[in-house]
Amino acid sequence: MQILIHSADAEQWQTAIAKALPKAKVITSDAALEERQDADYLVAWQPPGWLFEEQQALKGIINLGAGVDALLNNPALPAGIPIVKLRDAGMADPMIDYVRYAVLHFQRDFDHYARQQARRQWLERPLASKAEWGIGVLGLGAIGARVAQALAADGFPVHGWSRHPKALDGVRCYHGKEGLATLLGQVKSLVTLLPNTPATRGIINAETLAALPQGASLINPGRGSLIDEAALLDALGPANAETGGGKDDGNGDTGRLRGAVLDAFAREPLPAESPLWRHPHVLITPHMAAPTPRGAALEQVIDTLRAWQAGEQVPSIDPSAGY
Ligand code: GLV
Repeated sequence: MQILIHSADAEQWQTAIAKALPKAKVITSDAALEERQDADYLVAWQPPGWLFEEQQALKGIINLGAGVDALLNNPALPAGIPIVKLRDAGMADPMIDYVRYAVLHFQRDFDHYARQQARRQWLERPLASKAEWGIGVLGLGAIGARVAQALAADGFPVHGWSRHPKALDGVRCYHGKEGLATLLGQVKSLVTLLPNTPATRGIINAETLAALPQGASLINPGRGSLIDEAALLDALGPANAETGGGKDDGNGDTGRLRGAVLDAFAREPLPAESPLWRHPHVLITPHMAAPTPRGAALEQVIDTLRAWQAGEQVPSIDPSAGY
C-alpha cells in the first residue's frame, strides 16, 4: 500500500502513519516525482490540481478536515474516487469553546463593555437571562450537533437546523426553508456551521438577516461562502457606529444586527481592504476556530486506511451533496 500525504504538516503525518502502518510506503508530496507516483491513497488538506494530474492509480482520498469544499471545487479532482472526511476528530471541542466564547461575548455584554471602557464609562448593564437567549445552530453534522448540545447543556434554549430532518436530545430541531424562517425569528445568536455547498451558498443574506430579531448577533466559524458579506455589512449598520445612526444608545447599536464574530470569509486571508476589518461591531479571527488535531484525526485516518486495505467499504462523502 502506497500512501501519499499533502498538508502543511505532511512530515508529522508521514511519521505517524508510517509508525501505525509499518508495511505501507508513506511519502509526502515533496518527494521526487518517481517516488510519489502511483500512490494508492491520498491523505490531504487542500491538495493542488497538479497532484491529481500526476496520480493515476488513486483508490481513495482522505480529507484532513471536516469541510470537503476545497477538494470538490478542485477542477482536477478525478470523479468516482471515494472521499472520506474527518468527522469531529477532536475538532468539536475547540469549536464548542469558540462558539461559547462568542455567545458569551454578546450575552454577557463584553462587546458593550469594551466600548464603555474606551469611554472610561463605569456602567453595569442588566444581566440577560440565558433561558431567554435563544441560540440557532445551522448545520447539525458531527461538529454542529456537538456545539448545539453543549450550548443546550450550558442552559441556553438551542434551535438546530439541518437540510434533512434530525433529532437531537435537548435541541429543538428544524429543517427545510420553513423551518429556517421559524428558527431565525427566535434566536439572539445565530451560529453557522454548514458545509460550503451550492445549497448553502449565501444562506445568510438580506432576507435571512431581516428575519432575525432586532439586536441579534451572528457567529460564523463555518464557511465564508455561507454569508453575503454586503448584506451582513448592511445589517450591521454604519462602521462609525459610535457617532452615526439614529438608534445609537451610546453603545453604538445602530444596525439591526448587534454584532458578528467571524472566523471564515469568502476570501481568505480576508483582504486588507475589506470593511469588515474596521467595523467596530465585528470580531475577526483567522480561520482558527477548530484546527485539526493530529491525535484524534490520526485514529480516523488509520482506521480508514486499514479498512480500505482489507477491502472494506468506508462511509464516504456524497460529491453531489457537497458533504
Ligand atoms: C476546517 O475548516 C475544516 O473543514 O476542517
